[in-house]
Amino acid sequence: MRDLLPAQYRAYLKLTELFFSEAARFGFQPIELPAFEQKSLFIKGVGEETDIVSKEMYDLYAHGEDLGLALRPEGTASVVRAYIEHGMHSLPQPVRLCYAGPMWRHERPQKGRYRQFYQLGLEVLGSADAVTDAQLALFLATFSKKAGLSDIQIRLGSTGDSQCRPAYEKKLRAYFTEYQDVLCADCLRRLEVNPLRLLDCKESACQAVAAKAPLLLNNLCADCQQHFKQVTEAVEQLGVPYELDPTLVRGLDYYTRTVIEATASAGGHELAIAGGGRYDNLVGLYGGPKTPASGLSIGLDRLVEALDRLGRLPEHQPSTDVCFILLGPEARAAGLGLYKTLSDLDLSVALVPDKDSLRAQLKAADQLKARYAVIIGQQEVVDKKAILRELAIGSQETISLDELPERLSSATTSIAD
Ligand code: HAM
Repeated sequence: MRDLLPAQYRAYLKLTELFFSEAARFGFQPIELPAFEQKSLFIKGVGEETDIVSKEMYDLYAHGEDLGLALRPEGTASVVRAYIEHGMHSLPQPVRLCYAGPMWRHERPQKGRYRQFYQLGLEVLGSADAVTDAQLALFLATFSKKAGLSDIQIRLGSTGDSQCRPAYEKKLRAYFTEYQDVLCADCLRRLEVNPLRLLDCKESACQAVAAKAPLLLNNLCADCQQHFKQVTEAVEQLGVPYELDPTLVRGLDYYTRTVIEATASAGGHELAIAGGGRYDNLVGLYGGPKTPASGLSIGLDRLVEALDRLGRLPEHQPSTDVCFILLGPEARAAGLGLYKTLSDLDLSVALVPDKDSLRAQLKAADQLKARYAVIIGQQEVVDKKAILRELAIGSQETISLDELPERLSSATTSIAD
């Protein structure tokens, strides 16, 4: 687990804010979901044989007792649960929801792969149309560009549906059966339960076999072929650059038809920054009314890492308008009331309570990159005045304490961070 320190966390916050405002522009409404859910929700939706569920999920125990709960490894399952639980199918469809937050997967920690990581997610429930999928690709391209990554690679594929998948699985099973002697123990089990999962095994021997396996994209039924054609046409009409990827397999079981992934190249590294696709059966699988759906999630950690490698992290603009420099107890007493008045005017006001000397307090004001210093010493208290110094220029004037708030609020436009 990691701490996110200020320089880095500022980028997380800024990108999250950008994400929510872009998502609102695309018609998405924000939703906040619990950090843990019934384990069975993920087992059923993401899939028992997936690495995410079988190897990476954090189960929750209290006093040694299995609570049947798990830290969420992803957000789609929870969104679908909430959609059903709150009767959102009776709202005008489609329902567009967006969310941001930490997810947990017990993966081997390495650069760009964390046990607690952050996703920005979009889900559209109640639309079967290919244009919905294309809009998600457009969102991805638009958001990444505004975030500072103008050159992401979007890949599109199709995983078929319950019409064409069984025949393909049969083909796949027959193909992999020929290579039983080289497959890992996990894959031998997957061969029985879910042959599609052999396609994303991380063992190199299995990957070599999987590389030559029959492609699902060549085995789609007519309806899925047509849908995928419509997706690619709409993506082209929207002017989003993409590559067709017949080998695209996602590590989650719920996908049907469209699958999408995006990578960014940064400093010689390829980072998988987003993934998603269509999941037309998930609402039904959880007991809701049959509802086609589609979505994607952006890996915020990877986005920040890519921007960092490219030197494009959002710059931090220090935002202190005024720093108070109070010399002696009388000045403190006079200055604190004024400090409150300026703060109420929404100015960014700083104090340096732990430093006594003028020199030390001026140095602190400088470090804060304050625009103005308000200096009050014993003489100023007696005269009911303050010295107002514009720090970058070095110019200063003496001004009565009464006039100061009016003067500063008109002179400063608070520089938002
Ligand atoms: P996913 O591909 O598992 O999909 O994750 C989406 C993104 O989360 C990845 O592309 C990656 O950027 C980031 N990510 C995943 N695992 C880690 C990790 N350990 N450390 C850092 N970043 C990571 C999903 O989670 C689906 N729920 C996406 C979706 C939404 N499908 C439909 N709607």
